[in-house]
Amino acid sequence: MSQVAAATAPEETAPEEPAPEETAPEEEVPAVAVVPDVALAETTAPAEPTAPAEDAAPTESSAQAQAAPAATQPNATTDVSRETSIDPGGTPLAYELADETRRRIALEEAVLPRPAQTRVLTISNQKGGVGKTTTAVNLAAALARSGARVLVIDLDPQGNASTALGVDHRSEKKSVYEVLVSDLPLAEVIQPSTEHDDLDCVPATIHLAGAEIELVSLVAREQRLRRALDAHLASMDEPYHYVFIDCPPSLGLLTINAFVAAREVLIPIQCEYYALEGLSQLLSNIELIEKHLNPELRLSTILLTMYDSRTNLAQQVAQEVRDHFPTQTLETIIPRSVRVSEAPSYGQSVISYDFASSGSLSYREAAAEIARRGAAKTEESN
Ligand SMILES: Nc1ncnc2c1ncn2[C@@H]1O[C@H](COP(=O)(O)OP(=O)(O)OP(=O)(O)O)[C@@H](O)[C@H]1O
Ligand SMILES: [Mg+2]
Repeated sequence: MSQVAAATAPEETAPEEPAPEETAPEEEVPAVAVVPDVALAETTAPAEPTAPAEDAAPTESSAQAQAAPAATQPNATTDVSRETSIDPGGTPLAYELADETRRRIALEEAVLPRPAQTRVLTISNQKGGVGKTTTAVNLAAALARSGARVLVIDLDPQGNASTALGVDHRSEKKSVYEVLVSDLPLAEVIQPSTEHDDLDCVPATIHLAGAEIELVSLVAREQRLRRALDAHLASMDEPYHYVFIDCPPSLGLLTINAFVAAREVLIPIQCEYYALEGLSQLLSNIELIEKHLNPELRLSTILLTMYDSRTNLAQQVAQEVRDHFPTQTLETIIPRSVRVSEAPSYGQSVISYDFASSGSLSYREAAAEIARRGAAKTEESN
């Protein structure tokens, strides 16, 4: 009920303030992205712009307002402007609440298409801390909740995806390391995630740290994960709809194994300075793999992460990424959100940790977009 009330709030109050309506018509919004953002920052945090404890609230909500129109509108500039506009009939907060409500309803009503064949996506970026693991875990959780069967393969010796999915990855456990180095079948290391019945995980243990070196002398060192995964999928009566491979922050043999096992690459890009640095090296590696080892591989998806709508820099990075990768970049943007960063310490995705949070909402939207794009692509090629 309160959400509905929030949704209608701006309209109800609109007639009371005719003057701003005249001076700030909605049409002016797309024109400038930067100036209204300053206005919002001032409105939401006038005295202490850094206030860390409350950081999440304005950042999440304003970034959501940014991401929200993105789901329905074609370009990012419009989104930025809408996020920063002040509804003539309400406060920015009222606008954001209404917008979140609208997006939640749209997600609840949506039925996501399921792929006819397993989609294997490698989540990769040799830059550290850009949100690879967070993206793998939360997309997987969102898709499992939507009714898909999902597997996450943790290919990072840090084992962060295993932790976030509530899966035991102590050193004595069998893991993806034994699959790669000792040819252990994938079925013997897969564990159910506490996150959802339809979500499984291949954990990574610390042993994987040595795998890069051990793999060098092994036969078919680049194809080891591919073979194990293909064999497992072929043996399943009901194969997974999605497999996400969480890569380490490097371009070594582990990442090469992930590229060879996958059909699609998803690159998370943090909306920060240096975000695009190193990207050309990553792209040329993908090209090399496509040419020599896996002709099906393509860069299908780019996801902008940790977006802070209060900074011009984040807006500029987002725009630059969209300019370079107009078809691959998802409309949905993941906001910087305290809830997202807290969730792993509870062995949860943000979706189960705080379903109503804006981080959860954004990852569910990103998952929906990935599902729809995949279905559209299949239709195109038929
Ligand atoms: N949207 C977000 N808002 C706030 N914090 C986030 C967000 N996404 C990720 N983080 C935090 O940023 C840090 C890095 O994220 P994550 O571990 O997903 O990156 P990564 O690319 O997998 O890192 P690595 O390269 O070390 O594997 C983590 O502490 C995570 O909780
Ligand atoms: Mg990681």
